[in-house]
Amino acid sequence: MTKLLTVFGATGQQGGSLIDYVLKNPELSNLYHLRGITRDASKASATSLKERGVQVIQADLSDSQSLVSAVADSYAVFGVTNYWDKGSAAIEIAQGKAIADAALAASVTLLIWSSLPNVSRMTRGALTDVAHFDSKAEVEEYIRNLPILSSFFMAGWYMQNHISYMRPKLQDNGSVVLSQTWSPTALLPMIDITDTGKFVAPILLDPAKYSGKSFTCATFFYTPLELVGVWTKITGKKVTYAQVGADQARGNLTAEMQRKLKKSVGLIDDYSYFGPTGREDLKWTLDQLTDAPNTWESFVNANEPWFS
Ligand SMILES: NC(=O)c1ccc[n+]([C@@H]2O[C@H](COP(=O)([O-])OP(=O)(O)OC[C@H]3O[C@@H](n4cnc5c(N)ncnc54)[C@H](OP(=O)(O)O)[C@@H]3O)[C@@H](O)[C@H]2O)c1
Repeated sequence: MTKLLTVFGATGQQGGSLIDYVLKNPELSNLYHLRGITRDASKASATSLKERGVQVIQADLSDSQSLVSAVADSYAVFGVTNYWDKGSAAIEIAQGKAIADAALAASVTLLIWSSLPNVSRMTRGALTDVAHFDSKAEVEEYIRNLPILSSFFMAGWYMQNHISYMRPKLQDNGSVVLSQTWSPTALLPMIDITDTGKFVAPILLDPAKYSGKSFTCATFFYTPLELVGVWTKITGKKVTYAQVGADQARGNLTAEMQRKLKKSVGLIDDYSYFGPTGREDLKWTLDQLTDAPNTWESFVNANEPWFS
């Protein structure tokens, strides 16, 4: 009999990718059947999950009572919160802890938490307002102290950010420019977030082996110069990189994102997104995978056209 894997954020990028991967992967499909959680079971992304055989349950991370039925009978839970939904660390922490509490109360065996590094600690107090990292790390600490098998999925910088709010801009003179705060040679750990399932699969296949482990999830560390080089090669349009101040790097950022961006300038350049052990941690993570994650080249190719 298959075990139940409950996926929060099932209609979103991380959770949706995990569901896609489990459905397509014969080994995981033989082990797990799926439940997806959404606040609105009637929306198209939820009904399409139902059509693909996923049980859909409506629940809200801010309503802890609704989480009881959300996680009931689950063997494993994938928990993710969306900081940007409310832009509040307190809410993200409360929601993350509510997932953990519900999982524990329901005797779930394995909790996989979508975490990020504790930037305040990693930078020894130099950057204390990268709230969407620190809040996830606080939930991770909470989970680590619970009597439950737990593993941590830490997503790098989404390649998808460059399709949406950090897309390079076509200038009036026909050139294309990516304007960001990073130095041209900063190291960005990039993940195609549709690869979430590739990173979570080893944990689902052997929960005891990976309990307590953090997965540093990216394909590679790319510099901004490498990013624009690949766009240039694949699209045939010259794309250049401009390092700008936080005030000019607006793109399509919301006011809250803009405020956070200003506070986090320096994280990637001065401390590295995953901290001093990021390269070794990424190598260890990639060594655990069966399916290689997508490269920036394959992502740019797959998402043509870019600058029409
Ligand atoms: N962008 C990056 O480079 C990056 C890198 C690392 C980590 N992250 C983190 O990734 C997280 C977002 O994950 P994602 O990209 O998968 O999100 P996403 O695609 O924006 O989807 C958000 C998901 O969360 C669900 N959700 C939001 N609020 C909820 C609530 N109160 N109750 C139940 N479900 C709720 C939504 O479900 P419904 O709307 O259907 O209810 C949806 O499925 C953020 O916290 C962000 O900090 C982003």
